[in-house]
Amino acid sequence: MADQLIDLQSALEEIDGASELSALQNIKAKYLGKQGIITGLFKKLSSIPQEEKRVFGQRVNALKNQIEAKIAEKRAEIEKRLREEKEQRNRFDITLPGAIRDIGAYHIVSQVMEEVQEFWLSMGFEIATGPEVEDVYYNFEALNTPEWHPARDMHDTFYFNSNRLLRTHTSPIQIRVMEKRTPPLAIFAPGKCYRKDTPDTTHLPMFHQFEVLYVDKHVSVAHLKGILETFVKRVFGRDRKIRLRPSFFPFTEPSFEVDVSCSICGGEGCRSCGGTGWLEILGSGIVHPNVFKNVGYDPEEWSGFALGMGVERIVMLKHDIADIRDLLRNDKRFLKKFMGVNI
Ligand code: DAH
Repeated sequence: MADQLIDLQSALEEIDGASELSALQNIKAKYLGKQGIITGLFKKLSSIPQEEKRVFGQRVNALKNQIEAKIAEKRAEIEKRLREEKEQRNRFDITLPGAIRDIGAYHIVSQVMEEVQEFWLSMGFEIATGPEVEDVYYNFEALNTPEWHPARDMHDTFYFNSNRLLRTHTSPIQIRVMEKRTPPLAIFAPGKCYRKDTPDTTHLPMFHQFEVLYVDKHVSVAHLKGILETFVKRVFGRDRKIRLRPSFFPFTEPSFEVDVSCSICGGEGCRSCGGTGWLEILGSGIVHPNVFKNVGYDPEEWSGFALGMGVERIVMLKHDIADIRDLLRNDKRFLKKFMGVNI
């Protein structure tokens, strides 16, 4: 009797055919809701003859349980499918390489400049700077550099007009500082310089220098030599020696080119140092009296030493770089070799 109550088979198929939770919900309401078919059968219970009640009740209960079980099973199936669909949508391949960013670093020229600066600061020198677009007066005249000096040639120097140029060295900073200050003074002046040089293995039209100026009473070559020795040992290594060679600069008298002993042969002479055992690193000297006169210092009272050095030159010597142009090529393979060398 109860078998004819409802077509269980088609009810189960109906449930099975639901592909969305909302459809399933509707089917559930159709059978088990307040107005549902199964609920209707339970309501009939009271009008069933007493002797059939038990069997009828059991049958309806069984139907209810089967439909409930099927709905629960279907719900789990749909929810699983929805979960999988969502996972598929949000899926990403964790084995794909990420967007790797290179970590930046100071350029080797900046690193060496920093190292050099540390030394002079530790010796009590102050940092001074000056303009890269300079007056002819500061770049040459005040530095006692005569008209005939090759650096003053239009072909060697970047002029804006007859009075202005890109500074050819950091020496004009000496004048700018002395004009404003009274001695004694000790300055370290780093900066970029420009010359109309065609780039080759040892020349660039833009390069870095630093200038050192010390003015006090009774300053002698001994002071210059002493501090240079300390500088070279600190920056190039304890085993390095220096040599002063007489030279000429218009703004110093006497003037010296300073050499450092070759690191490859230790002074014996090899291919690296052209067989001499020495490598030229800087120009220096005792400040010329005319320079003091130009800034209003009494040369009878004050004396001083000055020196100027190319930073790229130190970089090349310290790190065995054969071609100065490598410093500007922006080749990451080259630059990476010097990441954090000194800092
Ligand atoms: N200014 C010179 C140059 O660029 C280098 C130099 C030589 C600077 C002697 C000095 C010095 O202060 O005393 O070639």
